[in-house]
Amino acid sequence: MTDIGYDGKVAIITGAGGGLGREHALLLASRGALVVVNDLGGAVDGTGSDKGAADRVVDEISAAGGVAVADMHSVATPEGGAAIVQSALDAFGRVDIVINNAGILRDKSFHNLTPDLLNAVIDVHLKGAFYVTQPAFVQMREQGYGRIVSTSSAAGLFGNFGQTNYGAAKMGLVGLTRVLAVEGAKHNIKANAIAPLALTRMTEDILAAFADKLEPAFISPLVAYLASEECAATGRVSSAGGGRIAEVFIGETAGFTDLALDPESVRDHWSEITTREGYTVPRHIGDETKLFMTALS
Ligand code: NAI
Repeated sequence: MTDIGYDGKVAIITGAGGGLGREHALLLASRGALVVVNDLGGAVDGTGSDKGAADRVVDEISAAGGVAVADMHSVATPEGGAAIVQSALDAFGRVDIVINNAGILRDKSFHNLTPDLLNAVIDVHLKGAFYVTQPAFVQMREQGYGRIVSTSSAAGLFGNFGQTNYGAAKMGLVGLTRVLAVEGAKHNIKANAIAPLALTRMTEDILAAFADKLEPAFISPLVAYLASEECAATGRVSSAGGGRIAEVFIGETAGFTDLALDPESVRDHWSEITTREGYTVPRHIGDETKLFMTALS
């Protein structure tokens, strides 16, 4: 088998001025991708900005013989997203890969959550992925090729205290990914999501004890595969950290059917409704609708 390479394909990597995004950028560039290193360069909570973050990663890529340009637009507005895609078109004439990685944290327990904590997090993680991916998707449809990788989180997939804003945004990215997989199917556009676990400035307070095991570089091989032409997977969610990769999937139990359903029959059959024996994993809404049709026929 040959090694995975990108043969001049153009990759936009958001939030690539540090942490995971920087590692993704270095790896893809080392294998021939032309990279737009996007980063606003602010603090973990999204305040401030610094063009130096993206510039430094571009310098690293150039020093290693790769090709990259810096972009410091924010993903969090439609204008910013369009400008990031325009940076790719101006520098390289096309866009083949979008890696939605930019992120911020504004943790607060739900009863204390305020609109500014909610809006900023939804704007960067969830709307930001829409704003960057949509103009790129238009190009991808026209050229009949695209790879989209969005960065979700176990906080949304499984739940974590103090992160309703972040968890909802991260689970929203799974919905975006699933629908893009459906809409992109006939244009050879694959959309997948990852849920990483790595020591970065975002997690240093909680993961410091595992510093040597959770290098951010462990996440990039998964991203590199999902961003490659060889990737056939679409609509998938993979969890990765410290060299371990696993799939996270949404399944549906065989279910219980009663045409005279009342609240008591729900109560009395709760274990049949929820038993995981014989579950299925629908690829899209059509597969799920078939489960109803089968049960009702
Ligand atoms: P990080 O803070 O090092 O990286 C995030 C980058 O996004 C920063 O460089 C920041 O400047 C940039 N950014 C923030 N707002 C931006 C905006 N509006 N426009 C452009 N760039 C912006 O943290 P890390 O850990 O590398 O995070 C990368 C992604 O991985 C994030 O989406 C995060 O939520 C996600 N993630 C990380 C986990 C971990 O264990 N480190 C766990 C689960 C998810």
